[in-house]
Formats: sequence, C-alpha cells, structure tokens
Amino acid sequence: MKFFIDTADIAEIRDLAATGLVDGVTTNPSLIAKSGRNFLDVVREICAVVPGPVSAEVAATDHPTMLAEGRKLAKLAKNVTVKVPLTKDGLKTCKALSAEGTMVNVTLCFSAAQAILAAKAGATFVSPFVGRLDDIGEDGMALIADIVQIYRNYPEFKTQVLVASIRQPMHVVQAAKLGAHVGTIPPAVLRQLFLHPLTDKGLAAFLADWAKTGQSILGENKKPAAAAE
Ligand code: E4P
Repeated sequence: MKFFIDTADIAEIRDLAATGLVDGVTTNPSLIAKSGRNFLDVVREICAVVPGPVSAEVAATDHPTMLAEGRKLAKLAKNVTVKVPLTKDGLKTCKALSAEGTMVNVTLCFSAAQAILAAKAGATFVSPFVGRLDDIGEDGMALIADIVQIYRNYPEFKTQVLVASIRQPMHVVQAAKLGAHVGTIPPAVLRQLFLHPLTDKGLAAFLADWAKTGQSILGENKKPAAAAE
C-alpha cells in the first residue's frame, strides 16, 4: 500500500518524507488556502521534495479551462498529478489529459458508479472520501470495498483506489485490509500510526535494563553527529 500525505505544509512534508515512508502528496484548494502561499510555488516545492505523484487540483469547472489549467499544472514538474473533480467536465478533462500522458487524480468520488466512470475515463487515481461519507452517517469503507471489488472484476481498469478524507488510523488499516492501492493520510494521522503505549512501555523497560549493563554498542563518545546534537 502506498502512503501519500494530505497536506500543502512544506515543513510537514519535509519532516515526514525524511522517514522514507511517503510515496506521494495530495493537495486541494482548501489545503492551499490554509498554507497561505502561492499555489504554483508550493506545488513546485513539494515536487522537488517528494519524487512520487503530487496532486494539484484545477480550479475551473468547465472542460476547456480545466484542460488549460491541467496542462499548465502538468508542466510544473514531471511528478505532478492533475486533480479534477468527479463531474462530467472533470471526466472529459481526465480523458484528455490521460491521453496526453499526464497522471490524473479524480477527486470528490462518493459512489461506486462514479468510480466506474473515473476508471473508464482513464484516471490514474480515483479518490473516494471515506471521512466525509462517515460524517453524514454513511459507511465510507463500504464504498472502498465496492470499488476495489469492481476494479478487480475488470483487469482493463488500471485506476488505483486512493482512499481520501482519512480521519484516523483505523481508516488506514481497514483500507489496507480491503486492498486499496493508496491512502492519503493527514500528517497528524500518519504520526499516530507510529504509536502504541506498549511500544513506549517496552522500550522504557529495555532501556532501563540496558543501562544496568553499563555497556555502549558504539563505545564511549562515538554517537553519530545527528544523534549527538
Ligand atoms: C485528498 O485528496 C482530499 O482532498 C482530502 O483527503 C479531503 O479530506 P477532508 O475530507 O478531511 O477535507
């Protein structure tokens, strides 16, 4: 399963990319607004930090303008994935950009029927929003199960299921159990994935026992520079 991070915060992206666990990044207009920065500058910067797909969303809603915006975004860096909304014009744009060799992420997917259309339009990724479905009393993960099953039925569908609107660690685990290709995870949730109280407790006990031995694996005063800071 690939992990994308769902943010336009470059400091967060740099920090998490340094773990080697980040395969890509997704942004949306709300995240760009939150960053308070110039959209094109942020996208260029993220693309230089993370070599995997970086989603940048068009702002227009009509096909000709979406296509022009998508082409401009695609020129920013080789790893730009143009994000288009799951509308008729969005899918028309998806089809055109995909035919030109541009990666496309079809976003705001809330039904299996919409996901079938995205695959037929040649999307690289489809983004079903699990958290927003849960928010209105529907079952976001049931949608992921449906889409994964449908795509498996048709090997000609090459679209990857990118689970979006993830709100908590169990969303990641459930998506992985269902075989979703990608999860786009907010930084705070990604940090939660590392944590377990028994890990902390076990480590504290191991360190206390190790200290009693009086030994040092590297020898005295031989800490690597980064750890010594
Ligand atoms: C990602 O591509 C989506 O824009 C994002 O996951 C939406 O998440 P939200 O529902 O928490 O805003």
